[in-house]
Amino acid sequence: MNRATPVILFGASGRMGQELLALVPQRRDIDLVAALVRPGSRWVGEPVWPDRAAALTYGSTLEPELPAEVLIDFSNAASFDAALALAVQREMAFVSGTTGLSDMQAAELDAAAARIPVLWSANFSIGVALLRHMAVEAARVLGDDFDVEIIDAHHRHKRDAPSGTALALGQAVATARGHTLEEVGVFARHGQMAERARGEIGFATVRGGDIVGDHTILFAGEGERLEFTHRASTRAVFARGALLAARWMAGRSAGRYSLDQAIDAALQKSSDVLIAASVLLR
Ligand SMILES: NC(=O)c1ccc[n+]([C@@H]2O[C@H](COP(=O)([O-])OP(=O)(O)OC[C@H]3O[C@@H](n4cnc5c(N)ncnc54)[C@H](OP(=O)(O)O)[C@@H]3O)[C@@H](O)[C@H]2O)c1
Repeated sequence: MNRATPVILFGASGRMGQELLALVPQRRDIDLVAALVRPGSRWVGEPVWPDRAAALTYGSTLEPELPAEVLIDFSNAASFDAALALAVQREMAFVSGTTGLSDMQAAELDAAAARIPVLWSANFSIGVALLRHMAVEAARVLGDDFDVEIIDAHHRHKRDAPSGTALALGQAVATARGHTLEEVGVFARHGQMAERARGEIGFATVRGGDIVGDHTILFAGEGERLEFTHRASTRAVFARGALLAARWMAGRSAGRYSLDQAIDAALQKSSDVLIAASVLLR
């Protein structure tokens, strides 16, 4: 195996951060060199793996010369700018799953890609990558004759609504039908006293309990309907995808990259049964 990729984790105390930290010790190809938490956090100075010999502790600053090739960010929209700035300043690849970003923050990702390799995805699971491809195929075949509704369900702590994944799925379907989501997305119907417009894409949001993340794309026609649903039962699926992306991003030149590219490259090297999925991902 090639040498391990030195990685910094930003948002280490969060649900996703903890999921990633649980997986890293199983990965010989990833070398976690810093686990960053919010400045002033009670986690600063605590050991990252109390039961292991590794001496890494949580921190909120970086050693000036700390060698790292990839920064993985799972924080929140308020701290996203700081994460991206750190990656640019240190000339590291930036892999981020933080959602709820503003249009300006999305533009900042493009600007950063002129200087460093950037991969942002609203959802790091392989299953959702396949779901999106299936939805695009269905949208192309069914066109505007079938009404599209996208339903996402998440735990009670999730801040942004609809989810970033729901928006990405909606954007993919809208593009496949020759529109933008700005033109056809409908995000609230309370008080509406009109029929559903042809071609619109409606969003419904469920928030409660500990739901990790469910997404359904409903294609409703006359006399029949199709429903494509993905349910994540553990955040480990997102963490695995993020580590796969981090490993693949190391050493790349500046530019925007997609999770599909990283998954496709990994599947080509793998004898995993998921090799079949690579056909769909091309
Ligand atoms: N793309 C995907 O596949 C995927 C999957 C799941 C979640 N997400 C998204 O990923 C993000 C994180 O999700 P989560 O469930 O892990 O949220 P979370 O539990 O709220 O974790 C976010 C963490 O970021 C920390 N943080 C805030 N400011 C920071 C700073 N300046 N430096 C370092 N850390 C900082 C927070 O610390 P404090 O609590 O101390 O403020 C918190 O621990 C969300 O945007 C979520 O929607 C994406």
